[in-house]
Amino acid sequence: MKIFKKLPEIIQGGMGIGVSNWRLAKTVSKQGQIGVVSGVAIDSVFARRLQLGDNDGSIRRALSNFPWPDMVRRVLDAYFIPGGKSAEKPFKLIPMPNLRMKRSYIELVILANFVEVFLAKEGHDGLVGINYLEKIQLPTLPSLLGSMLAGVNFVLMGAGIPLAIPGALDGLSHWEPVELNLHIEDNTQRQKFVHHFDPKEFLSGKLPELTRPNFFAIISSDIVAKSLARKATGNIDGFIVENHTAGGHNAPPRRTKKTRHQSAPQYGEKDIPDIEKIRDLGRPFWLAGGYASPEKLKEALDLEANGIQVGTAFGFCNESAMLPEIKQEVLRQYINGKLKIFTDFKASPTGYPFKLVSLKNKITTMENHSKRKRICDMGYLRQAYCKGQAEIGFRCPAEPMEKYIRKGGSPDDTKDKQCLCNGLMATIGLGQTREDDFGAELPLITTGEDFSFVPHVVKNSVTNYSATDVIAYIKS
Ligand SMILES: Cc1cc2nc3c(=O)[nH]c(=O)nc-3n(C[C@H](O)[C@H](O)[C@H](O)COP(=O)(O)O)c2cc1C
Repeated sequence: MKIFKKLPEIIQGGMGIGVSNWRLAKTVSKQGQIGVVSGVAIDSVFARRLQLGDNDGSIRRALSNFPWPDMVRRVLDAYFIPGGKSAEKPFKLIPMPNLRMKRSYIELVILANFVEVFLAKEGHDGLVGINYLEKIQLPTLPSLLGSMLAGVNFVLMGAGIPLAIPGALDGLSHWEPVELNLHIEDNTQRQKFVHHFDPKEFLSGKLPELTRPNFFAIISSDIVAKSLARKATGNIDGFIVENHTAGGHNAPPRRTKKTRHQSAPQYGEKDIPDIEKIRDLGRPFWLAGGYASPEKLKEALDLEANGIQVGTAFGFCNESAMLPEIKQEVLRQYINGKLKIFTDFKASPTGYPFKLVSLKNKITTMENHSKRKRICDMGYLRQAYCKGQAEIGFRCPAEPMEKYIRKGGSPDDTKDKQCLCNGLMATIGLGQTREDDFGAELPLITTGEDFSFVPHVVKNSVTNYSATDVIAYIKS
C-alpha cells in the first residue's frame, strides 16, 4: 500500500447504479485526475450488458485478460447473448445476494468488478477508484477481490461506517481469508452473523500479486471521521467530506428534531463538518457537494484539502451512462429555471435521505413511481433480519407490503418507499421489461443540488459536454 506523493485535486465521484461507468472514469483518469467507477450493483449491470450482446466487444476483450478462462466461460455461457436479446424480452435476473451465495454468483461478482476496473485502466497509467455502499454488504468481499485483480488504485465507500473494509483489503492483498460482520435487524440476542470469504476457494494455481488499494471513507461528520480513524480494522488513507447538497444518498440530519410545523427533517448548522478536526486527523481529504467550480476548488485548497470530489457535473456529461434523453431534459429544465431537486427522506429503502429530481414529462414522474406495482427482484437494499436461532432472512421496505410485514417489518417503514434498484437501472438504459401489463421500469433520477457549472460547459444551448470540459472549467 502506498499513498501517491502528489494526489490529484479532482476526484470524479462514484455514481451508482452504473452512471460512472468505465468510459467516464477512463476519460477523467487520462486527464490526470481520479476516475471512479461505480461498483454498486455492477454484477447486474455486467450481466445485462452481456445480454445486450456486448456490441463493441469491450467486455469480452477485458475478460480475455482474466487469468482464469474457465470462470470466464461459465459466466459467458450463463449471460452472453450474441447479437443481444430482443427488446421486449425481460433480462435474465442474477441471483439475489444471500448469506450462502452460490459459487456461480460469486464468480459473476468477481468478473463484473474486474471488467469495470480493467476497462477504466486500459491503455494508460492514470488512477482509477471504485465506489461501493457500506449498506450493501454481501457482494462486497468478492467485489473487492475482482477490482484488486484489475489493479484498482482506490476503494471509496460511503452510506455507512466502513470499519471492516480496510482490514479486508489488507487480508485480500495477501490472499488471506477475510470476513465481514453483517448488520442484522431485530437481533435482540446480539447473535453474530459473519460473511466469510476465502479468495483461494475461488481462484487457484499461480496467484498474481495483489496491491492493497488506498481506502477513502466518504463521511459527512468529523465525529465519524475520527471514529473511523481510531477504530477501523486497517488504515483509512483519506476522507471524502460530503455535505448534504451532494447527489445520491446523504447522511441524515444530526441532532435536529422535527418541529410540529415541519413536514420533513431539516439540515442545520450542526450538519456542517468541522474541517479543522478532519484536517487534524492527518489524512488527505477532499470536499464534496457543490464544489464544481474554480472558486470552490480554491476554497477547498485554502482549507488545506487535497481537492474536491465532483459528481453532478460528471453525471450529466457525454461519457456518463445516464440515458442521453434524461441528461438533455434535466439540463434543459435547469437552463429554463424549472429544475426541481429535493431531498426525499422516505424514498430510499436504506433509510438514508436520497436526492431526487422531479421531472414532469414523459420520461418519468414521481407520481408514476408511487403507482408502481411493487416487485422486488434485484434485492441489493434488502436488510438482513434475525428470524430465530442462527437464522436470518431478508426484507426490503420497498417490496410488496404484505410480504415485508409478514417478515416482521413495520408497516410504517414501507410508506413512500421506492425501488431504487429497478429505477436506477432504468436510468442507464438497463431497466427491466416485464412481459405482463407492468411494462417497463421507469427511471429514477438522482443529482446533486448545484448546477451552477452548466453555463460554463454548455455552450450555444447545445446541451452536451464532455468530462474534459468539466475538468478544464474547474481548473480554469
Ligand atoms: C447520479 C449520482 C449518483 C451518485 N451515486 C453515488 C453512489 O452510488 N455512491 C456514492 O458514494 N456517492 C454517489 N453520488 C455522490 C457523488 O459521488 C459525489 O460525491 C457528489 O455528487 C458530489 O456532489 P456534487 O454532485 O454537488 O458534485 C452520486 C451522485 C450523483 C449525481
